[in-house]
Formats: sequence, C-alpha cells, structure tokens
Amino acid sequence: MLEEYDKVLVSGGLGFVGRHLTSALLFLGKEVAIIDNARTATSISAPSGTTLHLLDIREVDAVAEAVDDADLVFHVAANANGTLSVTQPRLDFEINALGTLIFAEALLKASVRRVVYVSSASVYGTPRKFPMDEDHPTRPFVPYGASKLSGEITCLALHRACGLPVVVGRPFCVYGPGENPHEAMVEVGRFLRWHLNHQPIQIVGDIDRKTRDFVHVTDLVQGLLTIADRAELGEVFNIGSGTEVSMRDLVNTIGEATGVTPEVSVIPEIEDDTYRLVGDISKLQGLGYRPAVSLAEGVRDLADHLGANPELPGSPTIFSRGQHGES
Ligand SMILES: NC(=O)c1ccc[n+]([C@@H]2O[C@H](COP(=O)([O-])OP(=O)(O)OC[C@H]3O[C@@H](n4cnc5c(N)ncnc54)[C@H](O)[C@@H]3O)[C@@H](O)[C@H]2O)c1
Repeated sequence: MLEEYDKVLVSGGLGFVGRHLTSALLFLGKEVAIIDNARTATSISAPSGTTLHLLDIREVDAVAEAVDDADLVFHVAANANGTLSVTQPRLDFEINALGTLIFAEALLKASVRRVVYVSSASVYGTPRKFPMDEDHPTRPFVPYGASKLSGEITCLALHRACGLPVVVGRPFCVYGPGENPHEAMVEVGRFLRWHLNHQPIQIVGDIDRKTRDFVHVTDLVQGLLTIADRAELGEVFNIGSGTEVSMRDLVNTIGEATGVTPEVSVIPEIEDDTYRLVGDISKLQGLGYRPAVSLAEGVRDLADHLGANPELPGSPTIFSRGQHGES
C-alpha cells in the first residue's frame, strides 16, 4: 500500500518525531511536504528535498492549500509537552484538540487517501493492567492526555461520520537523537543529559516500582509506516517496545553505556508518577511490526550523539510535593 502514495505530508515535520519520519519517507523515495509553525522545532531549516509550509495547523485556508495534493498525511504536530499542558491547558487544547479538528477538516476537503493521527499512550491515564492493550480504559489525568484523546476521538468520529480515512497510533515513551531538551519529558534523554554533565540523575517517585515502555524513535517510525501501509481504517494501535523498564534498570543501563556509575537523587515522596506503564504491542506485531533497537543500544547511541556536556533538560516535572493523582 505504501508504494501507492507518492506525495506525503507531515505536520510537525520540523520536530523530533517528524524529522525522523521525514527522513524515512525520503529514503523510501516519497515526495515530502511539511507543515510546521516551528513552535518547538530545534531548527527552522527543513530537511533537504522537502517542501516546507511554515504555518500553523489552525490556519484554515493556508492548511487547505498546503494539503491539497497530498496522498498520505501524518498528523504529528502537537504540543507534546505535558508540563505545558498543566501550566497552559488552553493553549494545549487549542493545538491538540481544536487544531486537529481544523486540520482534519482540511484533509477531508482535500480528499486525502490516508491519514495517520499520532496520538499518545497518555490517553490511557493511570494503567490498570500490564501490559495495557488498546481496549484499556481511556481516563487521562493530565490535560495533555485529554487533548490528545480529544484529537483522536475527533478523527475517529470524522472517519465514521464523514469518511476521513484515518488510522491512529499511540506511541509510548519515545527517545532518540534530535529531541528539543527544553520540551522533552521522557526519562532516557533527561537522565543522560544530567549524567553526561556529571550531575545527579533526578528521579521522581519510586526507583523500582516506577516503570515505563521506552521506544526508540526509529522503531516508532517503523510503527507509523506499518500502520500507514497495512492498518484497517478506523483502527487504533499501540506503538511501543512492549518491554517494561524500571527507573533503576534505566540508570543501570546508562551506567553500562557510559562506563560511569550514575549518581541519583530520588524524590520518593512524590508518588503520583509511580505507576507501571508497558504497552501490549501484539496488535501492531500482527501487522509485522518488530521493534529493533534494544534500550542498551539506543542509550549507547544517544550518549554518543549527545557527547560531553549536552544542554541540560528544561521543563521541570509536572508533579509536585503534596499533589495527589489517581491510585
Ligand atoms: N516524544 C514522545 O515521547 C511522544 C510520546 C507519545 C506521543 N508523542 C506525539 O508525537 C508527536 C510528535 O512529538 P515530538 O516529541 O516530536 O514533539 P516536538 O515538539 O518535537 O514536535 C512537534 C512539532 O509540531 C510543531 N507544531 C506544534 N504546534 C504546531 C501548530 N499549531 N502548527 C504547526 N506546527 C506545530 C512544532 O513546531 C514541532 O516541530 C506529537 O503528536 C506527540 O503528542 C510524542
């Protein structure tokens, strides 16, 4: 199926995931256009060989013009920062929920043949089973999860009611080279940045009970291409590694990758973030998806990429002492 699409549009193509996706599409010989307003992009220059439309997904007319001749669209653009969604929930909702509706309407009018909506595992809220499959209840507890879920539900409703040819991917915790350190919240990059600056790794919550599903960005891209290629329209897919990793495991992996035992500074009394999180990826594996980058390999590569003294992580955690989430 993927070979049937020549012209591909990537919203958010200047961002972390969008750049990796764009490279993969160029490698496949696709003609790639990007829509991005560069709000969180680390560079405003588009990958060579692409056409850049420097605009906001909420600019109705300009978006309609830009998407006009696209066969396949990946809607990646979003506020991806959970902390910003807590401090500025309205901005988060305007981009992720309203922005997705405006963008999807333009896609409907343009008769695009397939749309991949990049959602997030944050739509699930506090996990109730391990691993969690796509039928797990969706009860997000941060505004970001709510706005991503709203975008997802909107796309799926437009599929049922108006024929928007959409499939949905729910990435877990994505890491790899090219993140914006001021925005990125996933522990792998944050922990490495502290460690490579000889600073203690800051861990919020219980170092052993807190687990996550870390997926390398190149595996995420393979997952997105797989659902673009083979998924039935209207379906939703987890995209993760399917491997549960505790904060202690991650710290140890970083120590092994760098040859230096990390110092850690734990804030155990903030329990809101202490939950297990691991995706059931069997539905996507049924389409042939096979995550290929182990955490050890991904951490080694990222440490090499960041080098000595990389920029320190920006956003603080969204959780504060005394704040209580769902148990
Ligand atoms: N990084 C992760 O761990 C992770 C996990 C789950 C889901 N996701 C989802 O993956 C997608 C990409 O995340 P990312 O980590 O690459 O984030 P990112 O911030 O690096 O990239 C987002 C891109 O979208 C652009 N953008 C933001 N608002 C826009 C707007 N209104 N109009 C046009 N462009 C706009 C930004 O400038 C940026 O280039 C997002 O949809 C995010 O919700 C990311």
